[in-house]
Amino acid sequence: MSAMEKNLAEQPLLAGRQAPNASFRKPLACGLLLLGTASFFSHGYVSDLVTRQWRSSAPISFEAQCPQASPLIPSKSTKELDDAWEYLSSDAFFNKSIEHLSGAVQIPTQSYDDMGDVGIDPRWDIFHSFASYLEETFPLIYKTLDVEKVNTHGLLFTWKGTEAELKPTVLMAHQDVVPVPDSTINQWTYPPFSGHWDGKFVWGRGASDCKNQLMGILEAVDVLINAGFQPKRTLVLSFGFDEEISGGEGAEHLAQKLLKRYGHGGAAIIVDEGAANLEGWGANWAIPGVGEKGYVDVLVTVRMPGGHSSIPPAHNGIGVAAELISLIEANPYEPKLDESNPYLSLLYCGAEHAPEFPKGLKHLLRKRAHQSTCAKKGNKDELALEAAKAGLEIKYLFTTSQAVDLINGGVKTNALPERTTFTINHRINIGSSVDAVLFHVAQLFTPIVKKHNLTLNAFNNATETPSSLTLSTRPEHLEPAPVTPTGPGTPFQILSGTTRALYGEDLLVAPGVMTGNTDTRYYWGLSEHIFRYSMGWDREQEGLGRIHTVDERIGGKAHRDVTRWVFGFVRNMDEADL
Ligand SMILES: *[C@@H]1O[C@H](CO)[C@@H](O)[C@H](O)[C@H]1NC(C)=O
Ligand SMILES: *[C@@H]1O[C@H](CO)[C@@H](O)[C@H](O)[C@H]1NC(C)=O
Ligand SMILES: *[C@@H]1O[C@H](CO)[C@@H](O)[C@H](O)[C@H]1NC(C)=O
Ligand SMILES: [Zn+2]
Repeated sequence: MSAMEKNLAEQPLLAGRQAPNASFRKPLACGLLLLGTASFFSHGYVSDLVTRQWRSSAPISFEAQCPQASPLIPSKSTKELDDAWEYLSSDAFFNKSIEHLSGAVQIPTQSYDDMGDVGIDPRWDIFHSFASYLEETFPLIYKTLDVEKVNTHGLLFTWKGTEAELKPTVLMAHQDVVPVPDSTINQWTYPPFSGHWDGKFVWGRGASDCKNQLMGILEAVDVLINAGFQPKRTLVLSFGFDEEISGGEGAEHLAQKLLKRYGHGGAAIIVDEGAANLEGWGANWAIPGVGEKGYVDVLVTVRMPGGHSSIPPAHNGIGVAAELISLIEANPYEPKLDESNPYLSLLYCGAEHAPEFPKGLKHLLRKRAHQSTCAKKGNKDELALEAAKAGLEIKYLFTTSQAVDLINGGVKTNALPERTTFTINHRINIGSSVDAVLFHVAQLFTPIVKKHNLTLNAFNNATETPSSLTLSTRPEHLEPAPVTPTGPGTPFQILSGTTRALYGEDLLVAPGVMTGNTDTRYYWGLSEHIFRYSMGWDREQEGLGRIHTVDERIGGKAHRDVTRWVFGFVRNMDEADL
């Protein structure tokens, strides 16, 4: 995950508690059927991977909205694979995997915001050490798989399947970590690159974001090779090296290479880092990210006449900028749950399965379902407004955010500011778009432009003139990610079934949404089946291990279970009929 919104992954994503509601299965006058699942029910589609209690004669209820995949255990096995599975539960493996992860954390692969070009800025050189460490640690992998270096430090492993027509499984992680500022080093319980093992946790930067995922994947492949496994479906491991600074050197090059090799839609599934399992509404959840919000920075430039501050006009550039900023803050975006927003699916899952799902939300879910088939929706999204009460970290899963984060203006106390700039950062809600945000800003500012007789240059590349308001975007804008399908017969069911086989059927799997962006932003073309999921879990320990801050760490059991998950998942994908 990138940047500070990563911290949100540690928050309870499913806040809000109320007493269980017994009257949950009330029939509805107008059905929920139009909410995306209609086609497979009305056409009698039944997936053997999906358990549900649907009867066509039953009253329409929330039951239909969140079927849970049955635990999926690979059916084809050998003595060697059974032994390998036992080994993955042994102390011997546990100790070895801890030692390997600790070694990986000890290599400070920090990516800095102001990194220069690869091959020129010497700060990239540490990635050579990391690659050597992997090669020393997993010689069997280097002997068995094709290993390519992409743009020097990107690592691409290919384990060729025996059936070339099967689309590959792609597992991702990144090698780089967020820098540790010198000023925080003495706040760490153990030095940030010590990889210290205290009997419970491996401590250090990268321990949970996400060298655990990277090492856990490699451990699983190593054990599979050892057990004589030969995949039918090609397995690709793609490890970038600058995810924390947007992935332009690593993931972008890797994704392009894969797109060229396998074509558009050429991969069966992509799993990258993402949300960890968590507790909410009285249940345990895996919420693999199937959507990501979009991103755009709007740069605002106010040009006003200069002059001496001893004879100022009523308003100058800084004053006008202040007016604009006040206007922005006075007009926040409303929460809105688009039909495709995974958080809506998560609400249905909560309503259906979670004992402490809030009654008020359940009521509004019913009302919404009723309205979408029987009545025209109003402008306000009542359900979203109610759900947003759970806190900001929930609200912004289905609300476009805006924050003025940078400002600059004026050069001298006795000179009026001729040029004042500020930047508005937006994370764009699913169902909205970059254009919608730009339109909103331009429209909002128009009355101020008129009031001060300015020329408005709205996103048209026009050169600034005196007395003008110029709006532009930074180049790195991004639309909300396409939402991964999760219906019956999709790869989501393989991921779900693998997860419930490992952790038990009391763990519910529901679609999740990410407020930040992972390296997968470059992979949209390679597969529509993208999941952002941190699969390692120790139910005794809460959430992710303090990513991006002091005392980052990962529990030993959670780390071990990355490997146990991948071990099952690769085999399940091999057997899956996709
Ligand atoms: C694993 O490590 C622990 C100490 O951390 C040790 O007590 C135990 O004997 C080790 N087990 C094996 C099988 O190496
Ligand atoms: C803007 O221009 C109009 C007409 O050109 C003028 O009447 C008005 O005073 C001007 N307003 C400002 C704030 O300069
Ligand atoms: C502005 O310039 C960029 C790059 O030069 C171009 O892609 C874009 O289409 C231009 N926009 C307009 C509105 O002219
Ligand atoms: Zn990460």
